[in-house]
Amino acid sequence: MPRHLLSIFDLDKKEIESLIKRAFKLKALKKKGSSHHTLKGKYVGMIFEKLSTRTRISFEVGTIDLGGNVIYMSSRDMQLGRGETIADTARVLSSYVDGVIIRTYGQERIEELARHSSIPVINALTDLEHPCQIVSDLFTIKEKGVDIKKMKLAYIGDGNNIVNSLIGAAAILGFHLSVATPKEYEPNGKILSGARGYKNGKIEIINDPKEAANGADILYTDVWVSMGQEDEMRERRKIFKPYQINRRLLSFAKPSVLVMHCLPAHRGEEITDEVVDGPNSIVFEQAENRLHVGKAILEMFIGN
Ligand code: CP
Ligand code: NVA
Repeated sequence: MPRHLLSIFDLDKKEIESLIKRAFKLKALKKKGSSHHTLKGKYVGMIFEKLSTRTRISFEVGTIDLGGNVIYMSSRDMQLGRGETIADTARVLSSYVDGVIIRTYGQERIEELARHSSIPVINALTDLEHPCQIVSDLFTIKEKGVDIKKMKLAYIGDGNNIVNSLIGAAAILGFHLSVATPKEYEPNGKILSGARGYKNGKIEIINDPKEAANGADILYTDVWVSMGQEDEMRERRKIFKPYQINRRLLSFAKPSVLVMHCLPAHRGEEITDEVVDGPNSIVFEQAENRLHVGKAILEMFIGN
């Protein structure tokens, strides 16, 4: 049975820690320019049903860096895009490549793909979760010298895939996560009850962004309109207005607060230019680290 990464809950504390540790090593090797071909002879297929800059490019570069081969497939170019079933696609791909990275809509699509694959499947974002992003963000937080166990991370904005995976991380690693969303835009209920089952860390779901930001070590936000929600854009822009990360909101957090955003940012909506380009922002380091952590993930799931 292949091992899949469909959800952050597929990882335990030790595995997350070992991915972080390996990413430190891989980042140092990359900076030194030394090669490390742990994916030699491997073929990685990537199916993207939504757009991507960071995830796609970092996994492509990462695979090549590790000596592997990568095939990018937009669903538009595949028979999947005109009705071939996920199950049949999974069976066929399993005979060509050694692992599949997929970005899609419903979580049930990657679960279906995994069920019919004899190779590992990695979630590169669904409507429900973005586990690779969050493992990478934990690396960035650690790299910045923050004690994950003791930190308060405040997530302000939409209760989307990013926060769902953050909630899992808070439960697995045991940190304080305070989430402020408008009413009816709270994170997924099943994810929350799954996380609460760990009886670890402290996960608060509230509606007041100032209360969430109060004393925070990290302020994290994401777009108000995720891919696939474009029809709701006007309404969401109105509802989410009080949830912007701006200078005023920063003043409630610790003076040393680190500001995070998985990107792409909609500047002037969920975050101001001043904050995203300001001294507390680590968003571009966050983006760079997708490469190093992505490589650690490739090694763990598809490597030799
Ligand atoms: N953060 C992230 O996943 O970015 P992309 O959509 O560009 O891959
Ligand atoms: N929540 C965003 C994340 C993009 C990386 C989306 O799903 O579009």
